[in-house]
Amino acid sequence: MSVTDAYGTSPAPASKSTESPKRFATSIRDLKKEYVLKSETVRALRGVSFDVPEGDYVAIMGPSGSGKSTLLNMLGCLDQPTSGSLMLGDDDISTMSDDQLADIRSRRIGFVFQSYNLIQQLSVVENIQVPLYYQGKLGPKQRERAVELAKQVGLGDRLDHRPTQLSGGQQQRVAIARSLVNDPFFVLADEPTGNLDSITTDEILAIFDKLNAEGRTIILVTHEDDVALRAKRIVRLKDGMLHTDELVEESAREAVRAKHAIAVAELKARE
Ligand SMILES: Nc1ncnc2c1ncn2[C@@H]1O[C@H](COP(=O)(O)OP(=O)(O)OP(=O)(O)O)[C@@H](O)[C@H]1O
Ligand SMILES: [Mg+2]
Repeated sequence: MSVTDAYGTSPAPASKSTESPKRFATSIRDLKKEYVLKSETVRALRGVSFDVPEGDYVAIMGPSGSGKSTLLNMLGCLDQPTSGSLMLGDDDISTMSDDQLADIRSRRIGFVFQSYNLIQQLSVVENIQVPLYYQGKLGPKQRERAVELAKQVGLGDRLDHRPTQLSGGQQQRVAIARSLVNDPFFVLADEPTGNLDSITTDEILAIFDKLNAEGRTIILVTHEDDVALRAKRIVRLKDGMLHTDELVEESAREAVRAKHAIAVAELKARE
């Protein structure tokens, strides 16, 4: 198997006095989420605890219905837990009002969705600026930042295109650039490569590799082992509970990167 022991799960191991304390992008403790319906209560998360240090790259896996999107939605301040605590940096979001959640969501969270969620009437640069619009910040400086991000994801020559004039992979690049525009605590991605072919999947994962190498924390949900093995750590949920939490060995990450590169080269040679 390609993974080693877990780290950083609850309770957090006591750090040795010689080590500098680890900063957490998020700290999750006994997180529960129940959806109360007419005839039943769905216990989507049943007490999940783990920490994500800054700079980590976590893949969340698990069967359909195991609570992955529910967890990501809590991390993204889209919804509140029924109980437990969820720290984003120094803020406990489980005690925040809806307004406070909306504020932190627009200022400090970057989202990437399977279906891109771009605004069709807006150009690439305008789509990247959307989170800033919600903060009432739109001006030449913000446009400059959006152009810079578009270039970083390889869309410098597509600035004025609309989503319908872009491929799926290019649309997902816009979504990644948009997720970075507010300098987020972390990038949350729910099956970001779910709609993409293998060449484009590799291109998107290469962008995540680069962002993580620059220090950006990434938390990504996926059903695909090969996508998860590009991360530094795999957290598996089962029935709303944390099932396993394992580090991915660097050699396994390297092997899957090489496998993707070979597959992409073969596909391109056939074109
Ligand atoms: N708004 C909601 N109201 C009621 N039940 C919900 C709601 N959202 C999710 N659930 C239920 O909570 C459980 C976890 O759902 P969740 O969407 O988190 O699963 P998932 O792991 O993301 O699955 P998938 O891999 O299919 O996307 C499921 O049983 C689901 O039916
Ligand atoms: Mg889901």
